Amino acid sequence: MTVKNSRVVVLGGTSGIGLATAQAVAEAGASVVVASSRQSSVDRALSVLPPGAEGLVLDVGDSAALRDFFTAVGPFDHLVYTAGENLALMRLEDYDIHAARTFF
Ligand SMILES: NC(=O)c1ccc[n+]([C@@H]2O[C@H](COP(=O)([O-])OP(=O)(O)OC[C@H]3O[C@@H](n4cnc5c(N)ncnc54)[C@H](OP(=O)(O)O)[C@@H]3O)[C@@H](O)[C@H]2O)c1
Repeated sequence: MTVKNSRVVVLGGTSGIGLATAQAVAEAGASVVVASSRQSSVDRALSVLPPGAEGLVLDVGDSAALRDFFTAVGPFDHLVYTAGENLALMRLEDYDIHAARTFF
């Protein structure tokens, strides 16, 4: 599979696994859109991604914002989803259902 000349959207693409993925596909010739919830993260990511990369602020927990985001982004070829908090490892019986829903 090649990503050359494709458009790749990376939700959570401003840090960690998502940013590494965005960098890899951009270097392979894809146009990349990264998104995450903080403008500062988006700015930092765009400073290390190749020219032409796009960055948008998006809270993936906000369904109205998600709709607006995909309307703004338009057609794309691949979606990568790495947005999220670090795993909270604890006994199931100690887990708070609201925290679990937010995490998912
Ligand atoms: N690294 C590992 O070895 C590993 C292993 C297993 C699972 N995971 C899981 O994989 C996911 C990514 O890991 P990572 O190491 O790449 O984490 P990371 O470096 O913390 O990156 C998380 C990304 O998600 C964004 N994000 C967080 N909340 C968001 C929200 N509500 N809406 C939109 N973007 C949001 C963050 O940017 P903002 O802060 O700007 O929103 C950031 O760009 C995490 O859920 C982690 O628990 C990681």
